[in-house]
Amino acid sequence: MRRSDISGFYKLPIEERLRLLKDFAGLTDEEVNILKKTGALELDSANRMIENVVGTTELPLGIATNFLINGKDYLIPMAIEEPSVVAAASYAAKLARPKGGFNTNSTEPIMIGQIQLVSVNDIEKAAQEILNKKEEIIELANKQDPILIKFGGGVKDVEVRKINTKRGEMLVIHLLVDVRDAMGANAVNTMAEAVAPFLEEITGGKARLRIISNLADRRIARAKAIWSKDILGEELVEGILDAYAFAEADQYRCTTHNKGIMNGIDAVVIATGNDFRAVEAGAHSYAARNGRYQSLTKYYKNEDGDLVGEIELPVAVGTVGGATRTHPIAKIALKILGVKTAKELGEIIAAVGLAQNFAALRALASEGIQRGHMELHATNIAVLAGAKGDEIDEVAEQMIKEGNINVQRAKEILEEMKK
Ligand code: MEV
Repeated sequence: MRRSDISGFYKLPIEERLRLLKDFAGLTDEEVNILKKTGALELDSANRMIENVVGTTELPLGIATNFLINGKDYLIPMAIEEPSVVAAASYAAKLARPKGGFNTNSTEPIMIGQIQLVSVNDIEKAAQEILNKKEEIIELANKQDPILIKFGGGVKDVEVRKINTKRGEMLVIHLLVDVRDAMGANAVNTMAEAVAPFLEEITGGKARLRIISNLADRRIARAKAIWSKDILGEELVEGILDAYAFAEADQYRCTTHNKGIMNGIDAVVIATGNDFRAVEAGAHSYAARNGRYQSLTKYYKNEDGDLVGEIELPVAVGTVGGATRTHPIAKIALKILGVKTAKELGEIIAAVGLAQNFAALRALASEGIQRGHMELHATNIAVLAGAKGDEIDEVAEQMIKEGNINVQRAKEILEEMKK
């Protein structure tokens, strides 16, 4: 019988893990060789990043063009498997250029570390005690990371919140940490763990969780762009405003609307080796901050009748630490962007999110998105049907011409071509 409780899998050499995996899953030699064949991220490095490694996986890396952000030109690396995303972002950025491209700004890179205190006898008194000892708490936390302090980061403030839960009242302490160019989870978690015993001592309570919050609402990036009505046409401006109104009024639509934004955001976050789960969690939570799930972008007409688009969301990304410096592609992606700080990277990411959303709404409000998808989709189907080399484009073109794109038809066309 196949069993998954393999003791010490993590201690085995990769070759041995692959042998076990081959037996377990009935992999062929060819499949095992595919697993062994890595790209830029070598097996040895991957094996130091996570546990139980047996290979690496790849995504296409594309470059979005045309981005003019705060008067500076950027080429944007995007890692994503979905057709049309890179082209759409580039197109939106192109249409934004005549009115100056994107303008961005952001807050300081402040992340929140949470410490949960339970079994506190006198909550009011404990809260006051914590505030009285704020300076000592900050000093203790900052001792954990002298390098961050050297670069101007560290805990900037301490906040105390009382929350009602189904297990009674709790005190939640927030450390507001300026994490400079890091994503910040490591620094913040270390600090939260370090101050917890002191908080217990001051309050007589019991510290439970000590962890960063991914609702990074003190680390906000904003971007704005104007799309000229002379380029879009008045009808399209109205169409995009209707699309935006739809998203604002309906959560089913709004989720998809924000998903389109995240197409662009995640692609840059992944290309630069950042934690896309953290950015995703933060974005959607921020979208619901008013008690209702809302759009991360907004659109309106200015006095000239041009379309103005704006985006605002937390973007917790770094340019140091984690995979940003250990993944060879991430390092190159950061070099292509030429960013100097995490703040600049966050703003670029916000601009890409806005561009992506504009592009989706533009397409949806006019010809629909399928036309743009067709070409790459047809190519993928041709490959699935077994087309190779020049056959791929020929099969794809034929299917597009017929308006009939599926594997069965691709196979038939291939057969006919081979006759
Ligand atoms: C597809 O990945 C993204 C869109 O659905 C976004 C949207 O509907 O706004 C096109």
